[in-house]
Amino acid sequence: GTFTLTMIKPVAVKEHHVGDILSHIEHAGFRIIALKMTQMPKEKAEVFYEEHKDKPFFNELVTFMKSGPVVAAILEKENAVADFRKLIGSTDPVEAEEGTIRKMFAKSKTHNAIHGSDSDENAMREAWFFFSEMEQFS
Ligand code: GTP
Ligand code: MG
Repeated sequence: GTFTLTMIKPVAVKEHHVGDILSHIEHAGFRIIALKMTQMPKEKAEVFYEEHKDKPFFNELVTFMKSGPVVAAILEKENAVADFRKLIGSTDPVEAEEGTIRKMFAKSKTHNAIHGSDSDENAMREAWFFFSEMEQFS
């Protein structure tokens, strides 16, 4: 199947939601084919979100993403990228649908609990950003 890259963001790790979030993901039919906890230094967070480097929220985003460990995973499923974006819900939790991961666990637009790749191309880039060949199982 196709795959996507997710990251449980620092706020959700700090608030002990890792198990609940991974459980939602597996019950929604995604297979975890890579998994790790890691903390990004500023430089890595800037590279991960480089497409947003000119946005007004970029510094706030990088400061948040480097503030604590994240849990990164590669998830395999048919139509993985689009189906996962649907499972996590809108970027802003105020707009996220009932039952989505962001509706349940996000605190704000910056502290929105979880990341999901927005294209197959970015899923590939982000998978190799976090995981070596020996860490990817399919
Ligand atoms: P990711 O899965 O984290 O990439 O979120 P997304 O794809 O739903 O949104 P996008 O890639 O456009 O933005 C990346 C991250 O920047 C979001 O998850 C938000 O945390 C943050 N962000 C995006 N837009 C805004 C905004 O208008 N204000 C603030 N404060 N943060 C924003
Ligand atoms: Mg995005």
